[in-house]
Amino acid sequence: GSEGTDYFVADDHLAGSVFRPRKEFSHKGNHGKAVIIGGSYGKLGAAVLATQSALKTGAGLTFTIAPACGYEILQSTCPEAMFIEGGKQFITGFEADEISTYGIGPGLGTDPETEKCLLHFLKKYSRPLILDADALNTVAKKTENVKLIPENSIITPHPKEFERLFGPTKDSFERLALARKKAKELNIYIVLKDHHTQIITPEVAVYYNITGNAGLAKGGSGDILTGILTSLAAQGYSPEQACVLGVWLHGRAADLAAEKHSKESMLPSDVIDELGAVFKELN
Ligand code: APR
Ligand code: MG
Repeated sequence: GSEGTDYFVADDHLAGSVFRPRKEFSHKGNHGKAVIIGGSYGKLGAAVLATQSALKTGAGLTFTIAPACGYEILQSTCPEAMFIEGGKQFITGFEADEISTYGIGPGLGTDPETEKCLLHFLKKYSRPLILDADALNTVAKKTENVKLIPENSIITPHPKEFERLFGPTKDSFERLALARKKAKELNIYIVLKDHHTQIITPEVAVYYNITGNAGLAKGGSGDILTGILTSLAAQGYSPEQACVLGVWLHGRAADLAAEKHSKESMLPSDVIDELGAVFKELN
């Protein structure tokens, strides 16, 4: 690393210091509105996983904006969340307010109409967002589009998505260096997902996460992280706190799921099921 960089390890001690227990007299209005925007025909599962994760992470109210073809799927798998129609087979339009926290991307797809709608939204919305998966792939199609990401947003690319956004890199060292440059330049938080996920802040501090395991190397694991981060941000955690606590929670829940089911058999939904046990450790 270069001089002046702060490197931290995101361990149970740090996560514990960031975590805020629920207040005894709180009501749902004190815990924010988390809104997942995603899903398309054949990829509704990603929106389901993100929504369930947002619910299980404690948001006061959780909504899903998804296409109509996902209505029954979402209402039956996530009855605690409210459904808002954003298109027919894929997302073609949605409204956003100034008080909800939006996590966009899981299962979104890259239909030209969806892409047009997302870019149109990014051009006029300036509050921090959580952007993942196809939301990032859409932004990546034109280099200058990265400037549309609102300041203080959190983006959660895996290495390929990162390279689509910011260009090719030789190895993980070069990727980290480029991530630091871009986090600062764009004033955003980059969650560089990998075996040891790295969180890079706009001040170019780097947090290395040490929880998680290869049982997460399955489709759907990333969607859970998006739900967790959206929920924490909705509850008033700063972007930095949400990243540190969220990435740690995701990995810790995965470690408990692996103990119970093995790395081979554990599913992303098993990881969601372990979130409760992880919150019990923190409380
Ligand atoms: N060790 C620890 N953690 C791991 C490992 C590993 N070996 N492999 C993966 N993970 C973690 C990553 O750190 C990340 O948090 O699992 C998560 C995987 O996220 P993604 O790469 O986004 O994978 P996925 O859930 O399949 O994404 C869903 O988004 O990226 C698109 O096209 C992709 O449709 C897919 C969708
Ligand atoms: Mg993903």
